[in-house]
Amino acid sequence: MKRPTTIIYDVNKEKPQAAIIRRAAEIIREGGLVAFPTETVYGLGADVYNAKAVRRVFEVKKRPLSNPLIVHIAEMKDLLKLGKNVGSDVLALARKFWPGPLTLVVKKNPSFPDIVTSGGDTVAIRMPDNRIALSLIRSAGIPIAAPSANRFGYPSPTQAIHVAADLVGQIDLILDGGSTELGIESTVVDLTVKPPLILRQGAVSLKKIKTIIPEVQISSALVTQAPARSPGLFLKHYAPEATMLIVEGEKNDSIERIKQLRQHYIREGNRVGILSTNRDNYSHGWSVRRLYFREDSKGRVVSNLFAQLRAFDEEGVDIILVEGFTGGHIEDVVLDRLRKAAGSNIIRVGRG
Ligand code: TXA
Ligand code: MG
Repeated sequence: MKRPTTIIYDVNKEKPQAAIIRRAAEIIREGGLVAFPTETVYGLGADVYNAKAVRRVFEVKKRPLSNPLIVHIAEMKDLLKLGKNVGSDVLALARKFWPGPLTLVVKKNPSFPDIVTSGGDTVAIRMPDNRIALSLIRSAGIPIAAPSANRFGYPSPTQAIHVAADLVGQIDLILDGGSTELGIESTVVDLTVKPPLILRQGAVSLKKIKTIIPEVQISSALVTQAPARSPGLFLKHYAPEATMLIVEGEKNDSIERIKQLRQHYIREGNRVGILSTNRDNYSHGWSVRRLYFREDSKGRVVSNLFAQLRAFDEEGVDIILVEGFTGGHIEDVVLDRLRKAAGSNIIRVGRG
């Protein structure tokens, strides 16, 4: 297939320019692919009713067809149109958290191609909290199927340049709406099972979801993953090009070990970066990046994790040493992404 020229438009995120949104919507309706910002990460959008366009989304991301997409909507009525037998729990969650970083898995109405849901009988739906995304969906007049706009296995894009780095020349348009507010993906809840299950922890915490459905549980697949038997068996996810190594344990022990490891890897000829919540733990002049995470005024998780992982790659770092931290209500979401990105490269130091 002829490779498209990727156009990048700067879009005003408070007041998206109508002409740009109209053009982007037209591309979607013509079966093209448009990357757009949401409040979490950038998505790569296609017309949910166009199987050929959706297939291209999988192709350009190199994503297995077995991994279904999230459908993005701008009107509540589309939840009822795309879903089947949508229950009161689903409606209560949608009313409380939409527009926002919560994805609801419901039984699907077979009105759109199977490829969106990987042939399954459920569909994941969310209404993003971003004016560019919402006006694009409204202008297109159709729901937009969109995974994160990165090559499969790599960190999700939180800036338009991240999308360009992964997908330029393969998609039609990137709407550049600046850095995404939250930097971490939506929480995914499956409401087709009893009790409802959290399939992916994300920007809306378990605690918040429990205020609406107290019986919700975290899928056992997410709880303390056993280390992979061989690193090769581990599915790469959220991972930068650089090798990551997380050092967990008592703080001073971790810092000491990171310093030793740094010397070791540098002696072997590597470029080494350090990711820590406190840059002052390391000497100036080292390649140290600060990891932050916090809860915003709406109780949503915000983190610069993905942006920092990509920044290390841009610097040409070979090895990223990550100073671990302990769990908690926000920390868990970041730890989940970090551990998946590092695969089985986790070392525990000190007593613990
Ligand atoms: O914040 C987000 O959710 C971003 C923005 C662009 O909306 N999207 C995103 O999409 O992260 P993606 O494709 O990278 O991740 C979607 C997740 C995957 O873990 C997928 O397996 C799960 O949602 N998912 C999608 N449809 C599903 C379904 N029917 N049942 C269970 N899980 C589903
Ligand atoms: Mg993704």
